Amino acid sequence: MFAARQVFGAAQRRAFSVSARQNSKVAVLGAAGGIGQPLSLLLKLNPRVSSLALYDIRGGPGVAADVSHVNTKSIVKGYDPTPSGLKECLEGAEIVLIPAGVPRKPGMTRDDLFNTNASIVRDLAKATAEAAPKANVLIISNPVNSTVPITAEVFKSKGVYDPKRLFGVTTLDVVRASRFISEIKGSDPANENITVVGGHSGATIVPLLSQSGHKLQGEQLDAYIKRVQFGGDEVVQAKGGAGSATLSMAMAGARFAESLLKAAQGEKGVIEPTFVESPLYKDQGCDFFASKVELGPNGVEKIHPVGQITEFEQKLLDVCLQDLSKNIQKGVKFVKENP
Ligand code: 2OP
Repeated sequence: MFAARQVFGAAQRRAFSVSARQNSKVAVLGAAGGIGQPLSLLLKLNPRVSSLALYDIRGGPGVAADVSHVNTKSIVKGYDPTPSGLKECLEGAEIVLIPAGVPRKPGMTRDDLFNTNASIVRDLAKATAEAAPKANVLIISNPVNSTVPITAEVFKSKGVYDPKRLFGVTTLDVVRASRFISEIKGSDPANENITVVGGHSGATIVPLLSQSGHKLQGEQLDAYIKRVQFGGDEVVQAKGGAGSATLSMAMAGARFAESLLKAAQGEKGVIEPTFVESPLYKDQGCDFFASKVELGPNGVEKIHPVGQITEFEQKLLDVCLQDLSKNIQKGVKFVKENP
C-alpha cells in the first residue's frame, strides 16, 4: 500500500485496494474426494478466487494439475501430506473449506460417520488454527452438527477461536428446499427462497415453509418436510454404497464460499442460512444453530432470529433442539477426551 499511495491518485488507489482485496486465496482440504473435486472445479470458475490451494492425503497435485487448465485467471496449486504440505496450503487462505472424510453408505445416519470423521476434522482444524487462524472456516465434513463444535474446541484450545469465522455449510438443505417446492408448485427454483434452520441432519433440519408464502397441508406438507430432512438419503440410496451427495454438495459449498467472498469484497445484504455459534437457543443447550446469517468482511455480521413460525414448525423445532444439543455435546466431549 505504501507504493500505491505514492504512485496513484485517490480514484486509482480505491480501484487498487478493491483489486487487492479481491486477491482471495481459497484452500480446500480433502480436494481429491467426491465433494472436493467438483468443489475445486466450481471454485476455479469463480472470478472472485485468485488462488486455489488443494490438499488431500493423496491426489491433491493431480486434481490441481487438471483443474489448473481451466482458462480462468486463478492460480492453482496442489499439496500432499509432506511435512510442510498442509501448512503451505493453508498459509494466507481467506477461506478454508473442509469436505474431507468418509461419506455415508445406505442405512447410515450422518452421526454414524462420527467415529471416522471426528478425528480427521480435529486434525485439519489443528493445522488450520496454526497456519490460517484468521481464515473463514467452512465445514462440510459430516456430521456437521458435531464437526463444527469440534473445530470450535480445537480453535479455543489454540487461543484463536473467532465465532464469527466458523461456519457449518447447510446450504444444501436450502437448495433442496427450494428445488423440492418448485417441483410441487411448478415454479422456478431460482425464485424460491425457503429458510431452513436448525442443523444439518435428519430431524435437526427444519424448513420454515410458512415464511415463504407457500401453503402445503396434511400429507403433502409431511412429505415435503421429510424430503428436505432426508433428501441426502435419496442420494445415498441411489448411489448404492458408492457415497452420498457430492455434486449438489459441491455446488452448495461453492455457493456459500461465493457469498462469503462477496461480503468480504464489500457487498452488503449478503444473507445465507448457516450453522454458527448462535445466541438463539443457548439456553436449551444448543450453542450452535443454523438460521439466516448476514455476512460481512469479518464473517458473521448479524444472526437473524427464527422469526414467526407456525405451531407445526415449532414442534419440528422442539425435536430439532433435543437432537442438536446431543450432537453438539458429542463434538465438545470428543475434543475434551481426545485433544
Ligand atoms: C447431504 O447429502 C452430503 O450431508 C450431505 O446432505
